[in-house]
Order: sequence, then structure tokens, then C-alpha cells
Amino acid sequence: MKQIEWSNGELSLLDQRKLPLSVEYLKCVNFMQVYDAIKTLAVRGAPLIGVAAAMGVVLASKESAFEPLSKIKTYTAEAALKLRSARPTAVNLMWALDRMLPLINSDEDDLTSYLKALEREALAIWAEDIDLCDKIGAFGAELIPRDASIITHCNTGSLATAGSGTALSVIRHAFRQGKNIHVYADETRPLLQGSRLTVWELCEDRIPCTLICDNMAAHVMKTKNITLAITGADRIASNGDSANKIGTYGLAIAAAYHGIPFYIAAPYSTVDLAVSSGKDIVIEERQPDEVCRCGGVRVAPEICRAFNPAFDVTPAELITGIITDKGVIYPPYDEKLRKAALRK
Ligand code: MRU
Repeated sequence: MKQIEWSNGELSLLDQRKLPLSVEYLKCVNFMQVYDAIKTLAVRGAPLIGVAAAMGVVLASKESAFEPLSKIKTYTAEAALKLRSARPTAVNLMWALDRMLPLINSDEDDLTSYLKALEREALAIWAEDIDLCDKIGAFGAELIPRDASIITHCNTGSLATAGSGTALSVIRHAFRQGKNIHVYADETRPLLQGSRLTVWELCEDRIPCTLICDNMAAHVMKTKNITLAITGADRIASNGDSANKIGTYGLAIAAAYHGIPFYIAAPYSTVDLAVSSGKDIVIEERQPDEVCRCGGVRVAPEICRAFNPAFDVTPAELITGIITDKGVIYPPYDEKLRKAALRK
């Protein structure tokens, strides 16, 4: 099952809000449909929203084919700005759009060449992501012992990327190497990316796994002989502070208390060297209603207030290592993350 598809000028996005109960695709023929899909988490996961947004730019460029090229360029640039605003925390969204920007604003004066250049770049971002996932998986798998119980949070698999995932790619690679792996997956309230998406991916791959509620993680660490914890990231500051799905910070604290290594796995494009520490990472705050509901069903009183930060920041000192497509980076992070930029 494909998470994203491009055919005959139409972008199909697997609607992740409906999984695993229903497999439905959103057909996008204009950029606003892609914007809505990103904003409502129909498509989600830092790398995948970057890929989807780049394809959204391609759709925008084709929306007004009979206008003069100058107008098409203006419209496409405005579309890129709008797509950029869909979600604030995952830097891969901005990173992918920044790659499209020079082409959107290029001096190209032939419409066909202009459109082709945009499509080529977006498809390159897409193809690169598939490759990066495998590199992360291969580097990370070296850290997984022959027998390992691994705890993870949110969804970091094929549904969060264009390829095999980030943290989940590490798990997949280790499993394919014949390692004896058992995964404990946090359900990831409020939107249940862990139970609906991660456990679904693990079951599809026949990787042994157990679903737990988020508030069971510390107890599981104490009682189930957890070897390591691994999650993805939406933005990594230059000092190594890492923003990821709400609950990651708590998981890292619990791991430190129990002496369990805690790894982040992410493509290098998730590193934002312009941000020096986690305090400068914008945390998306979503509708309180998501907290008042569970699986779409209202579970809190109608008048109740709720707080719904979608991400938190795990301080660098709680992170054992950051697994990227450029290798595993260990603390102290700042200089090493900067140097890694130069690595192929
Ligand atoms: O709100 P989501 O579902 O987009 O959040 C996703 C996560 O937090 C993932 O852990 C992160 O994007 C890394 S996935 C490769």
C-alpha cells in the first residue's frame, strides 16, 4: 500500500486519519487540497509532509496553465508560502519548500521547461527521502543488539516518510538482519499515531510488538527489560535539543532514570542549524477538542478545557545519539552536527 502516489498530474495521499479501519486516498489536483491534508494530518510525519508540500508546489504551478508565465510564478510562490504555514514545527516542510523556491523564482521563460523543472525537483526530494530512510535504517541497525526490546513513540515509519521510515526503519533493518526484536509502541495520545499507524505497520511486517498506553512507558521500562528507546524528530536544534511528538520528552526522562539509551533517528534535513536550542523551536498547538476525544468519540465533559501541544522538546543531554543518513552523531552535538553538513 502506497502512502503517496503521483500519476497523470494527480497526487494521491493515503488518508491517515482513517487508518487502520479504512484505507482511503485523497485525490489532490490543486495545492489547497495538499495544504488541507497536511493541516488536518491526513498526511503527516515530518519527512512525508515535506515531500507532499513539494508536490503541492508542482500542482500549484499547473493550476493556471493559460496565464502568462509571470503570473504562474507569482501564484506558485504564494502557494509555497501557504503550504509553509500548514504546520510550524516539522522543519522538513520548510526545508523541502526552500529547495523548490529557487526554481519557482527562476528566470526560466519557457512554460514547459519551468513546469518540468519544478516536477523534477519535487520528485528528486521524494526519491532522496526513500534513500535517506534506508541509510538511517542501516546506520541505526548497528546499534541494536541481537536480542532487543525497543520502546518507541508516535509513528516514524512508511506513513511518516516516503520510504521505510526513520526510527521504524532502524527497527525494520535490525529485524531483517535476523535480530530477535520486540517493540513496545506507545499509543500516542491524542491522535493515536502509535496504535493506529505504528502497530499497523509493525503487524504488516510481522515484527513482534506490544501496544501500550503512553502512561505505561516508565513501568514497562522497569519491568520488561527494555534495551533502548528510539523515536523520530520534527526539528533538531544545533545543540541537539530535539522536538518530536508530545510525550517524547517524558519517555526520554524515564529512559534516563532507568539507564536505558535513548536515540533519535531523523534525516539530516531535520537538523535546523539556524536554531541554537530547543527553546527557539515553535511548538504547534492544536485544537483542545482532540484531547477531549479519543478515537473520535467525546470522552470529556462538554465544558472542559484542554491543552494540546502537539510536540515537546527533549533536551540534548537526554539523547544518547542522533541517527542520521550521515551516520550516528554523539554528544556534544553542536560542532558535530555542523560538521556533518559537509558529509556526503
Ligand atoms: O503530528 P505528526 O503525526 O505529524 O507527528 C509526527 C512525529 O512526531 C514523528 O515522530 C516525526 O515526524 C518523525 S517521523 C519520521
